[in-house]
Amino acid sequence: MNRILEKRELNSTTVLLKLEAAEIAAKAQPGQFVIVRTGELGERIPLTIEDYDREAGTIQIVFQKVGAGTLLLGALKEGEMVTDVAGPLGVATHLDGYRKVAVVGGGVGCAIAYPQAKHLHGQGVPVDLIAGFRSKEIVILEEEMRRACDRLLLATDDGSYGQKGFVTDILREQIEVGAGYDRVIAIGPVPMMRAVCGVTKEYGIPTTVSLNPIMIDGTGMCGGCRVTVGGKVRFACVDGPDFDGHEVDFDELMKRNGSYREQEAEKKGHVCR
Ligand code: FES
Repeated sequence: MNRILEKRELNSTTVLLKLEAAEIAAKAQPGQFVIVRTGELGERIPLTIEDYDREAGTIQIVFQKVGAGTLLLGALKEGEMVTDVAGPLGVATHLDGYRKVAVVGGGVGCAIAYPQAKHLHGQGVPVDLIAGFRSKEIVILEEEMRRACDRLLLATDDGSYGQKGFVTDILREQIEVGAGYDRVIAIGPVPMMRAVCGVTKEYGIPTTVSLNPIMIDGTGMCGGCRVTVGGKVRFACVDGPDFDGHEVDFDELMKRNGSYREQEAEKKGHVCR
C-alpha cells in the first residue's frame, strides 16, 4: 500500500499524486513507469513516473480521469492509500550524448516529457520543450516545464495561449530557423507522435517516442502491449516504452488501443453510477 502525500488537480480532468514509494524512488529513471491498482479488483493502470525524489522517498504520477480505473484513482484523497504500485518498470529513456534536444509533449503527455527535459537540462544539454494543448484552460505544469528547459514553446489548438496551432508547426519552424536539434523526443497522443515523426523524418532527425499501448502485467508475459517496430514484434513494457519513432507501426498501435473501447465504456458506466 502506498500513501498519497499530496494531491493536485492540474485541470478539470488531470490529477497529480505524490506517493510514498521509497523503493521505487530509489531506482526510478526518466521514462520508466509504474502499474497502479485501486482496490483488490481494480484495473492495472500503467502510468509514467512524472518525477521522483530519492531523499524523500516519493514519486509523482499524473493521469487523466478518463476511464474506470483512473476515475477510482482520482477519487482518492490525500492521506489515503493506493492499493498497490509496482515498479519502476520499462527501460529508462536513453539521454546521453546529445548536443541539442527538442522534447515535444502533447496534453497530459507533457507530464511524461517533463522528466526527460529536466534530466537533460540538469546535465547542461540545451533543451527546447515544445508543449501543445487544446486550449489555455487545460495547460498543466507550466512552471515546472519552464524550469526544465532553456525555452518553453507553447502552442494551443485554438490560440487561447501561446502560439496558435500544433506542436508540429513550432517544431518545423524551429528546425527551419536552424535550431540544430540532433534528437527529438515526442510524448503524447499517438496521432501527435506520428505527426512529429513525419516532420523529423523529412529532416532526418532521429526521434524517440514513448508508446502507450494496452498493458496488463507490465513484465513481458501477457503480450498485451505488443507493438511492431522496424517490422519486428516488441513488447512496450520490457523493450520500451521508448522506441525509434521512424520505425513504429502507428496504424497498428491505434487499432490495438481501440480493441476494448466497448468494455472500457461499460466499466466506466458502472463506476459513474
Ligand atoms: Fe504484458 Fe507487456 S504488458 S507483455
